[in-house]
Amino acid sequence: MNILLLGSGGREHALAWQLRQSPSLRGTLYAAPGNPGIAEEAEVVALEVTDHAAVIAFCGDKAIDLVVIGPEAPLVDGLSDSLRAAGVPVFGPSKAAAQLEGSKGFTKDLCARAGIPTAGYVRTASLEEARVALAKFQAPYVLKADGLAAGKGVVIAASLAEAEETLADMFGGGFGGAGAQVVIEEFMEGEEASFFALTDGTTIVPFGSAQDHKRVGDGDTGPNTGGMGAYSPAPVLTPELQARVMAEIVEPTVRTMREEGNPYQGVLYAGLMLTAEGPKLIEYNARFGDPECQVLMMRLESDLAAIMLACAQGSLEGTRVAFHDETALTVVMAARGYPGTPEMGGAIDLGAAEAEGAKVFHAGTALKEGALVANGGRVLNVTATGASVTEAQAKAYAAVDAITFPTGFCRRDIGQKEVAREAARNA
Ligand code: AMP
Ligand code: GLY
Repeated sequence: MNILLLGSGGREHALAWQLRQSPSLRGTLYAAPGNPGIAEEAEVVALEVTDHAAVIAFCGDKAIDLVVIGPEAPLVDGLSDSLRAAGVPVFGPSKAAAQLEGSKGFTKDLCARAGIPTAGYVRTASLEEARVALAKFQAPYVLKADGLAAGKGVVIAASLAEAEETLADMFGGGFGGAGAQVVIEEFMEGEEASFFALTDGTTIVPFGSAQDHKRVGDGDTGPNTGGMGAYSPAPVLTPELQARVMAEIVEPTVRTMREEGNPYQGVLYAGLMLTAEGPKLIEYNARFGDPECQVLMMRLESDLAAIMLACAQGSLEGTRVAFHDETALTVVMAARGYPGTPEMGGAIDLGAAEAEGAKVFHAGTALKEGALVANGGRVLNVTATGASVTEAQAKAYAAVDAITFPTGFCRRDIGQKEVAREAARNA
């Protein structure tokens, strides 16, 4: 089959790398807008993803059998609906189903209707309403701009004064259109983990676990980012907990979406809090996590193209999905300034980073006169596998140290909590 992959980050490079290894690909893998890493795996084409007619025309010209949508923006924009209406199979939910990511309030209401464990909440549509609702909660206050905000729409305010200030900012347009509504919710305590499931709207296949590192600095300090590193699987999400997440969270979600006429198809990414009462949903994403996708793809053994096509065609039942037992760990190398304004154009020399079996996914790179330079906040995802988190971490950092990127930086403690647990177990 011929496949068109949409997106330009490390997540899409990892998807391209796996799709290229899929026995069922056979035809050509195209990508748009792509990046220099993706260009090593796919034929990069100039296509504006916001121009649905152009994407449909391209699919006709090139006899595309499957479109894979990487990021959330085209999903929330309804690109999969346009493609499906034109008869093109697509991996990724409809605009209505992508509300699970596109509207925090939509997801909270669905959880309430379906009895899915999550933090108690109130949806508010004005500053006055939100101020009144705050009185029902205690510090720390969890405030969420309803719409897409590039991972920056959640503020945890330590005091009432800070909460009121944040609400004024959210309703005052400080979070763009995302802040037209604000969800206020209970603060949950526990360890966070991510769980992935693939679905064609009816059949659901678990697709592994991971842990992300959202803060920019070592020891989980500094501002939130899109993710500075991840590893998979996440041992905190034991098989027993995964079974509960499937039964109590993912299955009721997929069933309710289908029953309410918004069947969800694609990957469902559940951000979870492992509380004393059990796993609770923090949020859903309608796409793979970035950089969680990179570690999942390092471990995937099965034919990704076949699995994605089965999701798109409603034939997921009976499809084999297998992962290697090894742990995969990725370290994000970012450009100085990230998550604020990153320094662009810094020179990168990958050296012998891939010599020891590590894989460097390109997240934000460009070629300038044939030389690789930084072209985004998150620039490289240096990824390795090992028999344990400790081993995967050592290999990933050895590869990081083989890279010359003077205007870049990374966290030095990706996977450290799990490394400490492994050390305690082996002591
Ligand atoms: P989200 O974008 O919804 O994943 O939220 C970003 C981060 O805020 C999460 O990864 C959590 O660390 C934190 N967070 C969100 N909601 C809650 C909550 N109800 N209680 C505690 N922490 C939360
Ligand atoms: N790494 C977090 C996300 O992709 O949302």
